[in-house]
Order: sequence, then C-alpha cells, then structure tokens
Amino acid sequence: MVDISKLVKESFRTLSPYFHGGNVWELSEKYNIPLDQLIDFSISTNPLGVPEKALQNIRQSLNLISHYPDPDHEWLLEALSNSADVEPDNVIVGNGSTELIYLFTEVFIESGYEVIIPVPTFSEYKAATERFGGNMTFINCDPAKNFQLNFEELKRAISKKTRIIFLCNPNSPTGCLHEKDDILRFIGFAAEKNVLVFLDEDYIDFVDDSKRYSMAEYVGDYDNLFVLRSLTKFFGLAGARIGFGIASPTLVEILRRAKMPWSVNSLAMFGAVEAVKDEDFIKKSRLLLQRSKREMLEMFRAIPWLKVYPSETNFLLVEIIQGELTSTQLQKGLAKRGFLIRDCKDFDGLHHRFFRVTVRRPEENIKLIETIKSFSNQK
Ligand SMILES: Cc1ncc(COP(=O)(O)O)c(C=O)c1O
Repeated sequence: MVDISKLVKESFRTLSPYFHGGNVWELSEKYNIPLDQLIDFSISTNPLGVPEKALQNIRQSLNLISHYPDPDHEWLLEALSNSADVEPDNVIVGNGSTELIYLFTEVFIESGYEVIIPVPTFSEYKAATERFGGNMTFINCDPAKNFQLNFEELKRAISKKTRIIFLCNPNSPTGCLHEKDDILRFIGFAAEKNVLVFLDEDYIDFVDDSKRYSMAEYVGDYDNLFVLRSLTKFFGLAGARIGFGIASPTLVEILRRAKMPWSVNSLAMFGAVEAVKDEDFIKKSRLLLQRSKREMLEMFRAIPWLKVYPSETNFLLVEIIQGELTSTQLQKGLAKRGFLIRDCKDFDGLHHRFFRVTVRRPEENIKLIETIKSFSNQK
C-alpha cells in the first residue's frame, strides 16, 4: 500500500477546514425544508437575485456551451472595465473572486514570506496563505472601536518578509468601511516597502456612494495595488461563480499568465456582461437595501440582549451581550425554523456570541427578527 499522506506537499498536510455561510443544501436536507422555503441570511447576496437581463442572456446562450469559453473575452473586459471606470487591460476575470485570492497568493507567496491580515475578516485570505506555505501575522481590530482598522499598527507590523497585506473594504463580517485617504496613504507606505496590497472590494457595490470609496482609480498610480470585485453578491451570480480583479496592466499580465485556462465558464460570462450594465437593477437594489437596512438596524437596536455594530454595507454583525445563549445555539434554533444566519464563532478575532445577518427584503427581515425575539435569550 502506498502511504499517500506522505506524498502530500508540506503546505497541504495541515490545511484546516473553513466554514462559510450559504449552505442551504445541507439545511434543507437536515431539517427537511424545501430549498425555496428557506430564507438565507447567512450569505450576503442581493435579495433581488440576478438581474433579469443577465438571466435572459444566459438562457439565450445555452446552445453555446458545447464550445470552450472565449479565452480573450474582450467584450466582457470592456463591460467590466466600464463599470469600474478603468481600462480593459486593468481587468482579470476569475471563477468567483475566490479564484483570484488563490491565484494572487500562489503567484506571490511561498515558504519564508509573510502576509498580514487584520481580523476578523474573510477566511479565504488565511486559507490561501496556508496553502502556499506563507506565514501569517494577524492584527486584531477592537470591537470597542467598532473594528476600525488601526493603520499605524498595520504599518508597524510590516517586516522584511512581508509580501501581501489583505484588506477588505467594506470588511466582512464587520461592515466597517475605511476612508479613501487612509487607504491611499497606506498603499503609498506599502509601496515604499515593496509590499503588495490586496484590497477586497467585493461588497463595495452595496455602499451608497461606492465610487467615493473604491480605490480602483489608483491602480495606474500604484503597481502594488490589486482591487478585488465580485458579481456573486450584488448581482446574485453566486452559483455561476464570477468575479474580477483590477490592477496595473503589468500586474494583470503576470496573473493572466499564471491563471488556469477556461476557469470561468461561458454562462457566467454571458450573465456578467449584462448584469453590470443594468443601471435600473443597480438603483433599485440600492434603494431597497438602504431602507431595509435602516429598518433592520432599528429592530435589532430594540432588542436589549443584542448589540448591533454599525455597517456601511448589506450585512450586520450582531453580538449577544446578555444571558447564556450562544451564536451556535441561536443559529441551530433558527435553522429549524427555516432561517439561515452566519454563526461567527470560527472567525479569528470573534467568538461564540457573534453572528452576521444579511439585509434582505423588509418583510423577510421582520420575520427573522420576530423569530430571534422569541428566543428571548433562552438557551
Ligand atoms: C469578503 C469576501 N471576499 C470574497 C468572497 C468570495 O466571493 P466569490 O468567490 O463568490 O466572488 C467572499 C464570499 O463570501 C467574501 O465575503
């Protein structure tokens, strides 16, 4: 018998399992609730779903799936770059933005190099770094300061071995949004130290004044900047898997050469090209979510045993501040009733009293909050 485990590469031997929201499949089977009767507050996608024009284009293109995806997809780069006010050669497309997190890390990280990750944040930065054998320094963001990033602390954490700093703006799961000037100064500082800044803007489309906060316009000035975007959240294409990165043409070219061929499928591309052009959908979604978030915040604030953190995007981080109930117990209890929330106990920097909920349609939010209230802080 071959002991396969001994053949596995060093950095893959100790990979830890990571958890994500959105596993409606498991919940549906476990509690015998049909998929369409579950309300998923755990994954931060747009409650309006996919723009109709994107769906139409996918349907009309079904007969094309016997062909390989267009390897150049200039038409898609054109649409994505227009949507972000950059040039097509600033854009690289990925199989969900997750592919680009892994690609970027693979290209720049190997054993002996280090990444810096302010936490709590999205788990895949850590997972990708582990996979490619890098070391990690975590910077804890303080709940008492609403998880605002301490840029001075971040600067101090940079060492000679630092290659990448992962920033998420707005950050998940905290909802924290950082000012452009602060990030810009930091990118400049990192550039002087030869450090790359990987800036995840997957949730920026949900920010009311997104152009004011996005750093996409600076990729021409800073070669060390990579901006990440996704179409799986705001445009609801989670199952189709598509995202993109924005960077200088030099950085884009390096990544394109390293990327797996045909990783993005044709249907995802056909959906994406229409989705980003749908101005009505964009306006309608922002209006709905503005109102819906305001109401949801008020409802949560009226529950004395919960603390809701300020959020500039489409999800809220909530802490159970009284009683014995844990986020895991709450998550399980809600799951039995057909609601999926994100238990945040596995996030570095959080614990078993934090959970995250997505802002959905007002009537769905009311149902969730009424059900949460019924727990009335009981176990
Ligand atoms: C902050 C953040 N970045 C990236 C991703 C990956 O998204 P996708 O691969 O669906 O584009 C997620 C998914 O939850 C996320 O929350």
